[in-house]
Amino acid sequence: MCGIICYCGHKQVVPILIEGLKRLEYRGYDSAGFAVVDNKEAGAGPQSMNGGETNSPQLKNLRKKTRISPDSGKKNKIVKTQGRVGRLEKKKIGLEIDATFGIAHTRWATHGKPSEINAHPQGDCSGKIAVVHNGIIENYQELKKELQEKGHKFKSDTDTEVIPHLIEEYFDGDLEVAVLKAVERLHGTFGIAVIHADVEHQIIIVKRGSPIIIGVGKDEYYAASDSNALAPFTNRMIYLSDDEMAVLNTSGYYIKNLRNELLEKQIEILDADEYRVDKKGFEHYMLKEIFEQPESVKNAFRGRLIENEGVSKLGGLEPVIDRLKNIKKLIIVSCGTSYYAGLLGRYIFENLTELDVETALASEFRYRRLKLDENVAVLAISQSGETADTLAAVKEAKRKGALLLGIVNSVGTGIAQITDAGVYNHAGPEIGVASTKIYTSQLVIQTLIALMIGRYQHISFIEGSEIINAITKLPEQIEEILANSKEIEEIALKYSRYRDFLYIGRLYNYPTAMEGALKLKEISYIHAEGYPAGEMKHGPISLIDEDFPTVAIAPDDLALDKMISNMQEIKARNGKILSITNVTAHKVLDISDDVIYVPGTLPILQPILNIVPLQLFAYYIANERGCDIDKPRNLAKSVTVE
Ligand code: AGP
Ligand code: GLU
Repeated sequence: MCGIICYCGHKQVVPILIEGLKRLEYRGYDSAGFAVVDNKEAGAGPQSMNGGETNSPQLKNLRKKTRISPDSGKKNKIVKTQGRVGRLEKKKIGLEIDATFGIAHTRWATHGKPSEINAHPQGDCSGKIAVVHNGIIENYQELKKELQEKGHKFKSDTDTEVIPHLIEEYFDGDLEVAVLKAVERLHGTFGIAVIHADVEHQIIIVKRGSPIIIGVGKDEYYAASDSNALAPFTNRMIYLSDDEMAVLNTSGYYIKNLRNELLEKQIEILDADEYRVDKKGFEHYMLKEIFEQPESVKNAFRGRLIENEGVSKLGGLEPVIDRLKNIKKLIIVSCGTSYYAGLLGRYIFENLTELDVETALASEFRYRRLKLDENVAVLAISQSGETADTLAAVKEAKRKGALLLGIVNSVGTGIAQITDAGVYNHAGPEIGVASTKIYTSQLVIQTLIALMIGRYQHISFIEGSEIINAITKLPEQIEEILANSKEIEEIALKYSRYRDFLYIGRLYNYPTAMEGALKLKEISYIHAEGYPAGEMKHGPISLIDEDFPTVAIAPDDLALDKMISNMQEIKARNGKILSITNVTAHKVLDISDDVIYVPGTLPILQPILNIVPLQLFAYYIANERGCDIDKPRNLAKSVTVE
C-alpha cells in the first residue's frame, strides 16, 4: 500500500510533494512525511559532479557518475506527521524550506503502529540518508539485529528503517553502489526511493514487487506509486519492472537492472482522461464514482461489440486468440470486490461458454496443488493492477505454464505487465477506497470475453445479438436507478441505526449479496454478512430477529420462487426485509418491508443493475453515520502486501 512521490528538478519541491501526496492519499493515510535537502543548510553549494548533457535522455549523465564531495555538513530535513496529508501541510507552514529535490510518503502501516516516529521517510544514524518504502521487508528482524550489533541506533518499529541503515553501512562515496548492496540483502517486496544529503539532486529508485513508476518532465524527473499522482506534472511515464533501479537527477536519468546493467526503457504517453481526478461537485469520490457508472459501463463495451455478427471483439486478447480457442479450463483469481466480480464471472462463463470454470481467492490460490498447463487460462481481475495476492497468484500460474489473462483498470501496472494478454476497463481512476464503478465494469468485460469465446462454441448469432442488445441498454438503465437516488436515500436512512445486516441472493445474485454486504461493512463499519439465500437455513437464520434486517436481492428470474420461500422464513422470525427486485416480481412486494425496483435485463446482466442501489444504500447509511467514506478506517485502495 502507501503512496510515494519524488521530485528532482529546478522548482521548489515541497508544494509538488504535497500535491502528489494528496493525490496518493487514497493508498494509505496513517501518516505522511517528506525529506528534502534544504539549500539554506550549512555547507550549501553543489556537491554533485555531474557530467555534461548527452543527446540520449536515458544515458545523460552517465559519462561522469554522480560523486559526492567530502562531508558537506548537510543533513536531510525530514518533516512528518501521524495522520493525513492535511496535517503535514499545516506542519510545514513557517518552515520556509528552499529545496528542489525530495521524497515523500503516505503510509498504510504494516510494521509499527501509525505514529510520527514510524512515519516515512525513515533515516540512518548520520541524518544524511532518507528512504521511503512501499512494501514489507521480511527479514528485517535479522538485519536489524545485525545492524544494531554494528552500532546502528534505530528509532522506529518499522521494517523500513533497516534500509537507510544498511545503505549507511555500505556507503563509501557512491550512493548507487551502496543501494545495490543494500537491496541485495533485502527479502520481501519494496518500492523505495533514497536520497543522500551529500549527493545533491540525486534520487535512487528501486522496485521489487511494489509499484513505482518514473515521470519524465523537461529537465525534471519524478517517481510515484501511480500515474494519478503525476497527472498535474507530466503524462510521460516509464514503467519499471521488478528488480530495476532508476537514478534521477536534474540533467537526466538512467535505468539499470540490479546486476548494474543499463536498460533502454520506453516512455509511455498516458491519455489525460485515464487519470483525471476530481470530485466534480459530489461530496465524495465514492458517490461520484457510483454516478459515473452509465459512462464507465459504456466505456467497458465501447468499440468492442460487433452487432451484425452477434459477437464481441477485444483487441487486447487478439494476440492469444488461437490459444484461447483451445482452452478447456478457466480459473478466475482476484480479491475483495474483484473476487465477487469473479464469482459472478463463473456463472457468466458457465452460461456462455463450454469452459470448466472456477473462481479462486488469489490469497489462497498459491497454496493449492493445481494442475495448470497450457489448456488452462488464469484470468486475474484487479482494479489497481497491483494487488500483491493477485500478482502472486498470477506468478504461480505463469510458472506452471497457464495462459495468463487480465482485466485491469490501471494502465501499465504489475498485473497488466505480467499477463500474456488482457482487457483494460478504461473506467478512469477510482479514488474511493470502496470499489463501485470498477465492479460493474468488470462484470461487463467478463460478459464480453465469455461472449467472444462462446461464439466460437455453442452460442448462436441470435443469442449473441440478444446479449449485445441488452448490454447496450445498461447505461440508460443505470441512469434510471440513479434518478431514483432520493428514494433510495430515504430508505437507507430508515435502516441506518441497525447494527447487523444479512444480504441474501441466489444464482447470479449470490455474488451481489456478498458485494452488497462488503460495501456496507467497508464504509459504515456495520456488521453485514452476504450469504447464498439457500444456505441461510443451514445456520445464519439463527441470527434473525426484529433487530437484524435482511437485504434480499430477488429479481424476476429462475430462482425467484426459492428466494420467496427463504424470505418467508425470515418473515416468520420477525425479520425486516428490504428487497431489490423488478416490478414484474409481484410476490416480492407482499413479503417485503421496503422495496427498491430496478429495471429488468437478461439474468446474467441483472447483477450489474442490482448492485447500484446497494452501493447507494451503503453510501447513504455511512454518510448518515458521519463515516469517512472515501478513506474508511484500516483500509487502503491498493493492497500491495500479502
Ligand atoms: C473494494 O471495495 C475493496 N476495497 C477491496 O476489496 C478491493 O476490491 C480488493 O482489495 C482488490 O483490489 P484490486 O481490484 O485492485 O485488485
Ligand atoms: N512496511 C512499511 C511500514 O509499515 C511500509 C508500509 C507501506 O507500504 O506504507 O512502515
